[in-house]
Amino acid sequence: MSKPPAPIVNPEVKYSQIFINNEFVNSESGKTFPTINPCTGEKICDVQEGDKADVELAVAAAQEAFKIGSMWRTLDASRRGKLLHKLADLIDRDRVYIASLETLDNGKPYQSAYGDIYFSSEVLRYYAGWADKTTGKTIPVDGNFFCYTRHEPVGVCGQIIPWNYPMVMLAWKIGPALATGNVVIVKPAEQTPLTALYAAALIKEAGFPPGVVNIVPGYGPTAGAAISSHAGINKVAFTGSTEVGQIIMQAAGATNLKRVTLELGGKSPCVIFADADLDNAVEQAHEACMTNMGQCCVAGTRTFVHEDIYDDFVKKSAERANKRTVGDPYDSKNEAGPQIDEEQFNKILNLIESGKEQGACLQAGGGRLGDKGYFIKPTVFSDVTDEMRIAKEEIFGPVQQIFKFKDFSEVIQRANSSTYGLGAAIFTNDINKALMFVQSVQAGTVWVNTYNNVFAQSPFGGFKMSGLGRELGEYCLTNYTEVKNVVIKIPQKNS
Ligand code: NAI
Ligand code: MG
Repeated sequence: MSKPPAPIVNPEVKYSQIFINNEFVNSESGKTFPTINPCTGEKICDVQEGDKADVELAVAAAQEAFKIGSMWRTLDASRRGKLLHKLADLIDRDRVYIASLETLDNGKPYQSAYGDIYFSSEVLRYYAGWADKTTGKTIPVDGNFFCYTRHEPVGVCGQIIPWNYPMVMLAWKIGPALATGNVVIVKPAEQTPLTALYAAALIKEAGFPPGVVNIVPGYGPTAGAAISSHAGINKVAFTGSTEVGQIIMQAAGATNLKRVTLELGGKSPCVIFADADLDNAVEQAHEACMTNMGQCCVAGTRTFVHEDIYDDFVKKSAERANKRTVGDPYDSKNEAGPQIDEEQFNKILNLIESGKEQGACLQAGGGRLGDKGYFIKPTVFSDVTDEMRIAKEEIFGPVQQIFKFKDFSEVIQRANSSTYGLGAAIFTNDINKALMFVQSVQAGTVWVNTYNNVFAQSPFGGFKMSGLGRELGEYCLTNYTEVKNVVIKIPQKNS
């Protein structure tokens, strides 16, 4: 990637209200909540706090927009695609500002945010292309009937997103939903509401009809729960913790059986064989853990290394972690910024302490960096064993766990022993080993000699407790459409 243009350091916040029916409004309760700068722990601004009453208004607006005969329902499918393209154009136009705002609210390095904003508009463009291409089938049933299927929008979709990739998650959610003709209510994470609210203004500017996209910032147990338990919402799409994913699925089951897709946690294995290109494997395994300060659902946090190269690998990994530059996210020399908030910061430090106590060998980092904000030193543990907390729990921080293994069947069994199954990687130059690994590992994405490559065109999601359904690519479209089977009797003869 070429060097991004200079950021706008600490940009002005333009929107902090709830977005319903293409209007920015205050919360019904009059309450607000602060969004915090993770570099300093200080407040950036107050944001209107959505709750049940605001979700009610958003649902009413969305239902109105989705009515038979409404502007949105009668819009040509190709026009939906053009609106998504227009939104992508506007995001590209304001890329420097949006990336700068993302860095302010989330703390991620500006150049990463700049990449995220590009990925967001690319995802919207990918789904813009699908708008007039989601076709049904003509089916040769028995008897004299004309039988075909229609792929219809599900309706009002609640979309609850996390704080690790705020704009990217927004695009992953609204792109496929809008391409297929749905209407949406998005709840951004309470830590990072600002870029979604700016995107709301762009959604209006692009020309989406009122009520098609509504954005309600607020907390999970209030605004989020109001979405997952609302009988007027037909589908909920969630990205976040496995624990909340279970709550959301229960709420959907207890109310109207709304369709549920979940993209949850992981503890992904990254397996390095002795025949791999060592330097590439060290670098990829490092990034697998450290990218986005380790705040990645698909982070490859269980690094399994073959005993023949183990000592070398550990040494190089520690050197790499010690070299990782952490600090001001607007400074282009830094590869990493702070963790998102105090809660995550404390959770990570607590898990690091558990690693030390349970006998893992600390090779790099191991604690906080500086005395302000939520910075943590890139941390590497070796001699990790499978029953340690750091081997099993999702840390969601810059912490690498290195395990030793002897042979293929042992490592496959250990890789699969997790309750999660989001990502997996193997590093080897032996095609047979790679193919056997791909076949045996339980994961939604398997990488060979690489890590972290995610594309708009290919599916992303989890096996086991890492989730339900797939996002991105063509596979995602099935989550946002109901299949309607139509059977028409054809008369036997012309009378
Ligand atoms: P979380 O799952 O609580 O939050 C994610 C989203 O869900 C936010 O928008 C939040 O407001 C909402 N939410 C929370 N409780 C809810 C409820 N009862 N009903 C409906 N919505 C609700 O995640 P949190 O607390 O931010 O992080 C905890 C852990 O979750 C992290 O340490 C990490 O392990 C994991 N996580 C995984 C993510 C992923 O990309 N899969 C993203 C964020 C967190
Ligand atoms: Mg939570």
